[in-house]
Amino acid sequence: MIFSERMNLLLEEYLPELLEIRKHLHSHPELSGQEHQTAALVAGELRKYGWKVQEGIGRTGVLADFGEGDGPLGALRVDMDALPIQENTGLEYASLVEGVMHACGHDIHTCIGLGVARLLSTLPKSSVRFRLLFQPAEEIAKGAYWMKKDGAIKDVKALFGVHVFPELSVGTIGVKNGSLTAAAGELKIEIIGESGHGARPHQAIDSIWIASRVIGGLQEAISRKIDALNPVVISFGKISGGKAFNVIADRVKLLGTVRCLDPLMHQTLPDWITEIVENIAGAFGAKAIVSYRSIAPPVNNDPELTLLLKNAAISIVGEQNVIHLEKASLGAEDFAEFLRDVPGTMFRLGVSGSKRCAPLHHGQFSPDEGSLKVGIQILTTTLLSWSKLNCSVRD
Ligand code: NI
Repeated sequence: MIFSERMNLLLEEYLPELLEIRKHLHSHPELSGQEHQTAALVAGELRKYGWKVQEGIGRTGVLADFGEGDGPLGALRVDMDALPIQENTGLEYASLVEGVMHACGHDIHTCIGLGVARLLSTLPKSSVRFRLLFQPAEEIAKGAYWMKKDGAIKDVKALFGVHVFPELSVGTIGVKNGSLTAAAGELKIEIIGESGHGARPHQAIDSIWIASRVIGGLQEAISRKIDALNPVVISFGKISGGKAFNVIADRVKLLGTVRCLDPLMHQTLPDWITEIVENIAGAFGAKAIVSYRSIAPPVNNDPELTLLLKNAAISIVGEQNVIHLEKASLGAEDFAEFLRDVPGTMFRLGVSGSKRCAPLHHGQFSPDEGSLKVGIQILTTTLLSWSKLNCSVRD
């Protein structure tokens, strides 16, 4: 087994310190693009272990390299940002920042990155080459793009990633070939009608009523015009318009999100949605302005790298604890932005403990910290296995 007894001992020795770091990060969460203290802490730890560190890659991102070999470069990406959510866990190390919380487990991800760095740093530098990407601003789907623009994955030949997963228990993981997450977009619609007296709607063009037709019409069109085996979700999260109880609204704005698994379908959706919305609005005399912003493509896991990671995981947690995920998630993940340019794979790390863990992005989300060790062991083994196949790494 490639994960040596020596590494296991070192990990046992290092874990208490790492768990303290995780608690510190959890108490001091930072929003997307503002991860200054987190990045400084990460950079300091990495330097302690002999990694060559570059700060400010992708604004608040940190990039670290280890090794001197000229072989291919294998890399791990973890994310660092928190969410604008009020923590409600009652934990003694709960967030000290009002309205900000590590509710997506990125504090765990960051510490997994540090643990992997600690273990890999014990290898002889001359025979290996690894890179770690500590990414900011995942929650707003911008950080991967920022880091890429600063050259973070130049020369990287394989990229690995992890995300905590409350639906699985600690000690188990989920792997999947192909689509792991959905393509996501932001949809803005403005319905422009004509105002009038609420008593005489026939003399006006009621944009609130037409907006309701648009909302319903889109859901109906999904079920009648799109293959049910190719799921598409459109959800509106915000609607605004109108001025008074007895005045017909002349303008309504809708803001929503669109998710689908098929990248080709994702390309055609903006035109498809625009046509339906314009037709519905036009049928009642209103005008519709539709704008669509693509947020992230699907995370498309490379089959060979997924198999490599799966085998690495089996050597750590056993075959029965490596679950093949049947379904992709309609959540989005900007790891996908890197996978446009480099093959990679992301797996789901079980974090439910004796008490079932609340869902991601929930004020009571509380992953079991036992998952930290499992994540570090699996990703270290994966990077070592990859390196062994592609470079001259020694056990
Ligand atoms: Ni997340």
